[in-house]
Amino acid sequence: MTSKEKFYLTTPIYYVNDEPHIGHAYTTIAADVLARYHRLLGHDVFFLTGTDEHGQKVAQAAAKRNVPPQQHADETVVRFQALWKKLGISNDDFVRTTEDRHKRVVQAVLQELQDKKELYTGSYEGWYCLPDERFWTEKDLVDGKCPDCGRPVEHLSEQNYFFKMGQYQDRLRQYIRDHPDFIRPESRRNEVLGFLEKPLTDLSISRPKSRLPWGIEFPFDPNYVTYVWIDALVNYISIPGYATDPARFQKWWPADLHLVGKDILTTHAVYWSTILMALGLPLPKTLFAHGWWTLNAQKMSKSLGNVVHPGDVIEKYGVDPFRYFLFREVPFGQDGDFSETALINRINSDLANDLGNLLSRTLTMLERYTGGRTPPAHEGKQAEDLDLRRKMEALPARVDVLLARLEFQKVLIEIWDAVNQANRYIEGAAPWVLAKDPAKAERLQTVLYHTAEALRIVTLFVSPFMPATALEMARQMGLPSLFEGISLKEAAQWGRLPAEQPIAKGKSLFPRIEKKTEKTLEKEPTAAAPTPTEKAPAEKKSAPASPAGFKPAIPYDDFAKIDLRVAVILAAEKVSGSKKLLKLRVTLGSEERQVVAGIGTKYAPEALIGKRIVLVANLQPAKIMGVESQGMLLAAGAEEVLELATFLEEIPPGTRIK
Ligand code: ME8
Ligand code: MG
Repeated sequence: MTSKEKFYLTTPIYYVNDEPHIGHAYTTIAADVLARYHRLLGHDVFFLTGTDEHGQKVAQAAAKRNVPPQQHADETVVRFQALWKKLGISNDDFVRTTEDRHKRVVQAVLQELQDKKELYTGSYEGWYCLPDERFWTEKDLVDGKCPDCGRPVEHLSEQNYFFKMGQYQDRLRQYIRDHPDFIRPESRRNEVLGFLEKPLTDLSISRPKSRLPWGIEFPFDPNYVTYVWIDALVNYISIPGYATDPARFQKWWPADLHLVGKDILTTHAVYWSTILMALGLPLPKTLFAHGWWTLNAQKMSKSLGNVVHPGDVIEKYGVDPFRYFLFREVPFGQDGDFSETALINRINSDLANDLGNLLSRTLTMLERYTGGRTPPAHEGKQAEDLDLRRKMEALPARVDVLLARLEFQKVLIEIWDAVNQANRYIEGAAPWVLAKDPAKAERLQTVLYHTAEALRIVTLFVSPFMPATALEMARQMGLPSLFEGISLKEAAQWGRLPAEQPIAKGKSLFPRIEKKTEKTLEKEPTAAAPTPTEKAPAEKKSAPASPAGFKPAIPYDDFAKIDLRVAVILAAEKVSGSKKLLKLRVTLGSEERQVVAGIGTKYAPEALIGKRIVLVANLQPAKIMGVESQGMLLAAGAEEVLELATFLEEIPPGTRIK
């Protein structure tokens, strides 16, 4: 008998001392995308998330509100649960560390470690970072503060139980070396190997109840509770049934993927791995630590009052655009800066213009030319038919490889490449012209079939990222059961579009968002704004050149009309279909802009990030090859870009240039 492939993935369990924010949503949505994808493949998925409810941090948050910690947890946990529901998170279980099913296993684990002589009592003297719930030695401290987060630490001296972590140092190092996929991305793996260069100390895993009563009691010593990190990490095995349900545990463990943020890499890579070694359990297959979201280049924190609440974002822009944005904007693993402008740009360009447009024009054509039904199969023989088909046939394998590497951004670029090819196919084939000529009726049907089939396949791959959107797309296409009981590998094959299904064209998926603060963006001049390289030849013709090649003199007032500003490049990518054009996202400090520049032959996109440039900030926005450009940057060179104008010092973005 062949059993289904299993996939067990986890998120961190979040502290209930705080409200959920965009960072928590990020990890959880990433896990959700993967869980949904694996389910589409027909795998048996177990997707676990939850909350971390013990420890000093939670106890203090509760004390501050003057409520018992359990009550505090009960009240806070619902915020996480409600948000996950709103965000369409499809977790299979939700663990709360105050539940009996978890506490029992933590105690079983401690007993087992004690029986295996992995623990000893010792006295501890050192420094404690409360927000991180981590101990540090005197020499770990940086300027007397926590080396990890820079916050103040408090001095502690007490008796505790220690786990003999240090003895696993060599074994762990070797394991990481032998298993290149164990810690990812590569940079994080190197970070852990670097950490393991220093001597690995034993780990204090208890807290005296006299100091901190809020935790899971030690099974063999009622004077102590469990260190919250040990308590929390054990959730990954307690819930699939360690020490309680061997068959179930056997089925799920080891986890295929622990998704975490880079802030909790060490606790997972080192504490958790060595505990598993002590228990004689296999290590998770992959531990992936993703990057950090900031807001306007600042750390988000309650005290700074700049936390982005996912609830507010989705209220304003919708769940799926938010889900899409998080993974399209920043490569998973790298840090990202959240910006509303960037989100709006993505909605207007990728979602409204590209995907929304493909759906609505396809359905409009089916309404007009096929009696509002999905067209029967027509095998196209023209090059563009074959190209489109090949593109769609290549998509499943590409997505599969990229998702296995958690390259969400690349997956979305691939899918959108297919979307845009389908859009270009429609424009090239011009069904509205074919429709006028009865002799072209057959060709028209072929074009419509290819378009609808491409759209169906795109819908399948959009669904892990934007599940509600994909369902609505399928419904409008007359395929309400597109996702029922499918196996993606088969469903994504070209030619599976059911014929003669009545379509149900509905409201547009992504209405364009007008940027109220930037009035000029509302009109879209059709003339392309000149990019530095494109401008030069045109000017040569129009301006009568002086002998030295200079332009004629202008009054100061003319020059004063130009608003030049320092801008910093945040992101850059190629404009598809163009060698020369790059789409840049730049910040002016107070706002962000999208700028299209003809510098792609000189600069690789990744070489531009962080560069400080000169932006003509008040140039009317224009579309260049269909991409909106909100300004122009300055560079040396007439025919060809030689070098961007830039600054030697760290001038703040937005600074005026005269
Ligand atoms: O550390 N950017 O919980 P926590 C990206 N309870 N991700 C972010 C983020 C940001 N700005 N802020 C938070 C804990 N995250 C422990 C975990 S696991 C056994 C115990 C995400 O509430 C990211 O996944 O502080 C990070 O690792 C996690 O939230 C920390 O959540
Ligand atoms: Mg934290």
